[in-house]
Amino acid sequence: MAPRSADSSMADLSATQASAGVVRGVFAHSPAAVVAAAATELADLAATLMQSRQTILPKRLAEPGPDAAQLQQILGAAACAPDHGQLLPWRFVLLPLDARALLAEQFAAALLERDAAALPEQLEQAREKAFRSPCLMLVVVDGACGDPEIDLAERLLSAGCAVQNLLLMATALGFGSALTSGKALKANGLRRLFGLGDGDQALCFVSIGTAHSRKPARLRPQAADYVSHLTPKQGVQPGFGPP
Ligand SMILES: Cc1cc2nc3c(=O)[nH]c(=O)nc-3n(C[C@H](O)[C@H](O)[C@H](O)COP(=O)(O)O)c2cc1C
Repeated sequence: MAPRSADSSMADLSATQASAGVVRGVFAHSPAAVVAAAATELADLAATLMQSRQTILPKRLAEPGPDAAQLQQILGAAACAPDHGQLLPWRFVLLPLDARALLAEQFAAALLERDAAALPEQLEQAREKAFRSPCLMLVVVDGACGDPEIDLAERLLSAGCAVQNLLLMATALGFGSALTSGKALKANGLRRLFGLGDGDQALCFVSIGTAHSRKPARLRPQAADYVSHLTPKQGVQPGFGPP
């Protein structure tokens, strides 16, 4: 996909959103040629959606956040992720506003654990991060449930797919979103707060809300930058290789 600006992608997205229902209808009722045309339209729609997603930092995410039905839709999208062995190795813990103070205390405690000399204003800054963005959730992966042959890497990959689905659905609904991590994710107090077991790993937070400002979209790499191919005589070579 060629790099595009977020603004042009967002405009395309609303135009193509309107045709999504048409595309679905065509798949259900039409002969092969029409289905092929609809597939092109659907691929364009998918590309536009993916290009429209960009990180909007939590401090730039304001009300309104997703309502209950939208949140169901966003979290429901995670279920479409590939999941080897259907272990359901990942989960999302929602943090409604009335629970954020608990997280704020753990952010401050984690900072104090790392730096006993942290100043009151630094602790306050750490606490404040828990209150940003109207919709906040923690992503957890379980490295131990079910089949031990399915290792942590596979579980993390499945979690990444689930998170991307969720981010794309939030984008499709017009919301901005961000993933954030940080050292507090490994702190004992935070692990206790979320009831994490020995095999659980807190991966990152997901924030969703209405973007009140955006940075220009970053330039995306071209596929040739990260694709190579195996040749019979010269091993792995850069790029796509012969068609
Ligand atoms: C697991 C994960 C954790 C992240 N944590 C942070 C973070 O703590 N702070 C931050 O500014 N961005 C964080 N990011 C966002 C990346 O910095 C961002 O995706 C990257 O800059 C690319 O920008 P884009 O999302 O707009 O394409 C995180 C991304 C991932 C995948």
